[in-house]
Amino acid sequence: MAVIDQSITDFFNEKKQELEAWYPGIKLSRLKLELLEFANEDNLEIIFQKLQAGVPLQYITGKAAFYHHEFEVTSDTLIPRSETETLVELTLVELKKIEKLPEVLDIGTGTGAIIISLLGEAPLNGMATDISEKALEVAKRNYLNLKPSLKDGSIEFRNTDRLEGIDKKFHLIVSNPPYIKKEGDKDLVHHQVKKYEPSQALFLNDEDYKNWFEVLFKDSLAHLLENGVFLMEGHENHLDDLKELSEKIGFERVEILKDLSNRKRYLKAYGQTSN
Ligand SMILES: C[S@@+](CC[C@H](N)C(=O)[O-])C[C@H]1O[C@@H](n2cnc3c(N)ncnc32)[C@H](O)[C@@H]1O
Repeated sequence: MAVIDQSITDFFNEKKQELEAWYPGIKLSRLKLELLEFANEDNLEIIFQKLQAGVPLQYITGKAAFYHHEFEVTSDTLIPRSETETLVELTLVELKKIEKLPEVLDIGTGTGAIIISLLGEAPLNGMATDISEKALEVAKRNYLNLKPSLKDGSIEFRNTDRLEGIDKKFHLIVSNPPYIKKEGDKDLVHHQVKKYEPSQALFLNDEDYKNWFEVLFKDSLAHLLENGVFLMEGHENHLDDLKELSEKIGFERVEILKDLSNRKRYLKAYGQTSN
């Protein structure tokens, strides 16, 4: 172990400036600690190669911390972000108002981070969809691995486009969908994100954007039980337009909510009410 520790220290001393440029969001001391935990004689060279290529830490170690758990991530899944933890918190507030066992759908589940974190906090009947079969495999593994620490309930995984083929209704529908315009927003995305994270998880073609959300909103509204709530994460530049669109489609009350840095990041929309 001392040899590995020394090799990593030497590498970090030699490449300090490059590492600071490649990993702007993380302190080098933390990066080093995380790698020390993961490195062994067999993977050390590969780790150095990946660091020099700027591969995100979570794709090197194959795991990411999210909410109260550690999730497996692969190059087929988005690395779950801290702003999505706020979406989990917002959803939990709604979840706790439901008197029956809540029926909850997570659209575009990726690693399963949202729905699994919700089941970590409260019993529920969950369903999770993703268009990527490979991402769903990761989500299923995360569910099985974390199941012993979750509350009572279950999660069913479906490989489908948004809500296609789903024939039940939900108290809550939550989603962190792809919400970046491929051309219009391209300068807003860090080049490492563009290079390493799955394009399908991040981007929509500019010309399809409105229609994509129109289908998402229409189908979500149709799949909400009475007094049901739809919550999603979005980009601050587009949430006003999406709010207008969701209101046009028939959601009764739509609110834009802010993240911890006071930026518009989430949409909360109520389905049809009983009164
Ligand atoms: C922004 S990522 C979110 C992943 C995860 N929920 C999270 O918050 O970390 C969007 C996810 O939606 C999936 N996706 C993209 N288009 C989809 C579609 N039409 N139907 C269902 N899932 C889709 C992607 O494969 C990806 O896993």
